[in-house]
Amino acid sequence: MTKPDEITPDELEHQIAIESLLDERRHFPPPAAFAARANVNDPAIYQRAADDYEAFWEDAARGLDWYEPWHTVLDWQLPFAKWFVGGKLNVSYNCLDRHVNAGRGDRVAYYWEGEPGDRRVITYADLLAETERTANALKELGVGRGDRVAIYMPMVPELPAAMLACTRIGAAHTVVFGGFSSESLADRINDSEAKLVITADGGYRRGKPFALKQNVDAAVESTPSVEHVLVLRRTGQDVAWKDGRDVWWHDIVPRQEANCEPERMDSEDMLYLLYTSGTTAKPKGILHTTGGYLTGVSATHRWVFDLKDDDVFWAAADIGWVTGHSYIVYGPLANGATGVLYEGVPDFPDPSRWWEIVERYKVSILYAAPTAIRAHMKWGRQHAQTRDLSSLRLLGSVGEPINPEAWMWYHEVIGGGRCPIVDTWWQTETGGIMISPLPGVTTTKPGSATMPIPGIFADVVNDDGVSTPLGEGGYLVIEKPWPHMLRGIYGNPERYKETYWSRFEGKYFPGDGCHRDEEGYYWLMGRVDDVMNVSGHRLSTTEIESALVDDHRVAEAAVVGAPDPLTGEAIFAFVILKSRVEPTPELGQELRTHVATKIGAIARPKTVMFTPDLPKTRSGKIMRRLLRDIAAGRPLGDTTTLADAGVVESIRDATTSARDDE
Ligand code: WTA
Repeated sequence: MTKPDEITPDELEHQIAIESLLDERRHFPPPAAFAARANVNDPAIYQRAADDYEAFWEDAARGLDWYEPWHTVLDWQLPFAKWFVGGKLNVSYNCLDRHVNAGRGDRVAYYWEGEPGDRRVITYADLLAETERTANALKELGVGRGDRVAIYMPMVPELPAAMLACTRIGAAHTVVFGGFSSESLADRINDSEAKLVITADGGYRRGKPFALKQNVDAAVESTPSVEHVLVLRRTGQDVAWKDGRDVWWHDIVPRQEANCEPERMDSEDMLYLLYTSGTTAKPKGILHTTGGYLTGVSATHRWVFDLKDDDVFWAAADIGWVTGHSYIVYGPLANGATGVLYEGVPDFPDPSRWWEIVERYKVSILYAAPTAIRAHMKWGRQHAQTRDLSSLRLLGSVGEPINPEAWMWYHEVIGGGRCPIVDTWWQTETGGIMISPLPGVTTTKPGSATMPIPGIFADVVNDDGVSTPLGEGGYLVIEKPWPHMLRGIYGNPERYKETYWSRFEGKYFPGDGCHRDEEGYYWLMGRVDDVMNVSGHRLSTTEIESALVDDHRVAEAAVVGAPDPLTGEAIFAFVILKSRVEPTPELGQELRTHVATKIGAIARPKTVMFTPDLPKTRSGKIMRRLLRDIAAGRPLGDTTTLADAGVVESIRDATTSARDDE
């Protein structure tokens, strides 16, 4: 396993090699009419933020409703930050009550669309009432301030209501993406010691119901902290039931009073944990708090997406990932925005589904992942062209680098050539957008996230932490704390320091390689550690390796990301079997399934290749760079440090493999 601090210049070179592909010369200045109306159109904002970044963020925090003001803007004991210290607020109050109290209760919070085609319109007043009833139900189930609640639900309106209900009573939630297995769910419940699990019987995906409650049943076998399971009926499928532990949503929530006083929380109280993959097998519980996080996500949502009162904002993501937390739930609701919530896949019943949604709700801002855009490119422009997309005025991209071809397609076919594109770089850890154009200010270049937003201070450094000149590549670092930054890894301050703050002294290291061009534009080059980015989802190579060696027939495994035209990276597993085990394609398929069962379908390797050996250095470290070359079908780089030069040939000759050719 390669720790971030073991990245060799060679590895970095490999990342930077991609840059030659990106000799991108096209420039797109903000359209004049767009800039004229934009929330931010004066570039002086960057200087104002740089002059006094604490005052700058303090201004943003004033956009929220506080019960008590803070006495200190920032308490920075590197690497531990506290923002708006002493301030008291409630996140659900800021997302709901204050809009309703201002007479905007009839405003639509979400146009919800289920995959089978069922639809609901949820106003701010509706969402507030549902949140209050749910909050009272949680209290009845014994949940209170300081507790943790695990949420494992499909994309239904009750999901944001459940999250907001937690924040209303001062409990922290940890939302687990519905595609994770029962084992992954159990790990997260145990790490957070959640008292309650909120789930549904199941959800819909690709026209078929899938089960959730069944996975919860398996998970809670091994989670002693769980007292109750609250179950929403979504699909009507049969579920097993344990009296005393399991409670139907419809039995407990509707009979509650739609009145629940919000808890006055400290600015630094925990809002949520969200687990994400790192370089080890154990996912990290990324910890976010209330005041700074809500300040950051609401402000970035207004600046980067140029939110206006009449906008319909659609982040086509799953709430189970941070994009959903920050830009489906907290940012947009804090701003009183009208959003779209869609339950299913983009191509059910056919690939025009997204464009039909844009047309139906007159979506004006669409925020999507490059992998989805590339899937639409593959399905063909006719699906979009037969729909009226004239309501769109701004497009966003998130989750992975967007290749210039996909950028141009998005711009022309979806945006009709008139919509600026904001390519937003950020992470679960950063909580909100960090590097992105401001659509009324920034001239964009296809494939570049452009520059850090006002109030965020980044740099690109070499191995020694020295800033690299423009026109060169290196490691991205963030130089100053920001309000929406993670406050730590739950229960593990040492791992927090080690992972993010030890590589470059005094600087936050996100783990991404970055090239800065002559004009100072940032081109994100992907991860430089053992984290892969598959369809915009972060997966740890180590986690998949340990799932593979968990099969009794596997002796050793090494997993790398191989470039994939659709998903960005695809999982490629090299597997050494124990002696006397026959490498067969069937075994390969079994191992792929095994990983999906252990971690979740998103982690299923696209390719399993059996090999007699792995390329190692003389000190025994697997040379992942060579494995990546093999997986990508590239000529091999430098092999002089190999312990056994013959090994690469023997891998290349090994042909037994199992592939996903769906
Ligand atoms: C990658 C998702 C290039 C990056 C919000 C980061 C990106 C990881 C971009 C975080 C982008 C995200 N351009 N790369 N616009 N956005 N990434 O935690 O490698 O799921 O470190 O957060 O995705 O993934 P996460």
